[in-house]
Amino acid sequence: KSLPVIAVDGPAAAGKGTLAKCLADALCLPYLDTGLLYRAVGRLMLDGDLDPATQSGEQIAAALRPDDLKRTDLRTPDVDRAASLVAGDQAVRQALVHTQRAFAAERGGVLDGRDIGTVIFPDADVKLYITASVRTRAERRYMQTGGSVDAPDREARISEVEAALTERDRADTSRSAAPLRMAADAVKIETDTLIAEQVLAEAIRIVKSVL
Ligand code: C5P
Repeated sequence: KSLPVIAVDGPAAAGKGTLAKCLADALCLPYLDTGLLYRAVGRLMLDGDLDPATQSGEQIAAALRPDDLKRTDLRTPDVDRAASLVAGDQAVRQALVHTQRAFAAERGGVLDGRDIGTVIFPDADVKLYITASVRTRAERRYMQTGGSVDAPDREARISEVEAALTERDRADTSRSAAPLRMAADAVKIETDTLIAEQVLAEAIRIVKSVL
């Protein structure tokens, strides 16, 4: 039997990336953060003075190279916005389908994203859907980005992050091209009351029960 493909989907800042990477390490499978593909296309469009709101990144997506994913400037606010626009372009998504399938073709893999279990690998061996309330996700993102528990502007900053995440959820779930939704055969993990180690333990338990 060929090596397993594990799909990890869910909304922004739910802890998918942390989980998927640790799961891949634990199972000795390759790991791909598919959000980086859309981020890299967005970045290259901005570099080339192309407007992701009005122009297509299809050709850039088709010519994407592994090194493009290693850039260190893929998580800036302008790339967040560009990637979100790029991700709504069906031609870009189509150009990246093969890249993602080819990644896991020989050695299996853990891939995290929004549409891995629904579009890219509808026959994935295991599908996990990682989620948490928008408040929990905003608090985590606030802490990850250097926020402290006793900052005087803590509440205001968390509210800002919460508003941004609500907007990304809306964009991710309402776009016509591969909207974010849980696959019918995915197993949901709600991470509100769990720390990363507990999410990993739960995911490993699910994987072992299925494989
Ligand atoms: O997960 P991340 O924030 O890095 O994703 C960047 C952008 O790419 C987001 O706007 C997200 O909606 C999009 N994306 C997607 N499909 C994926 C992974 C990410 O549309 N499989």
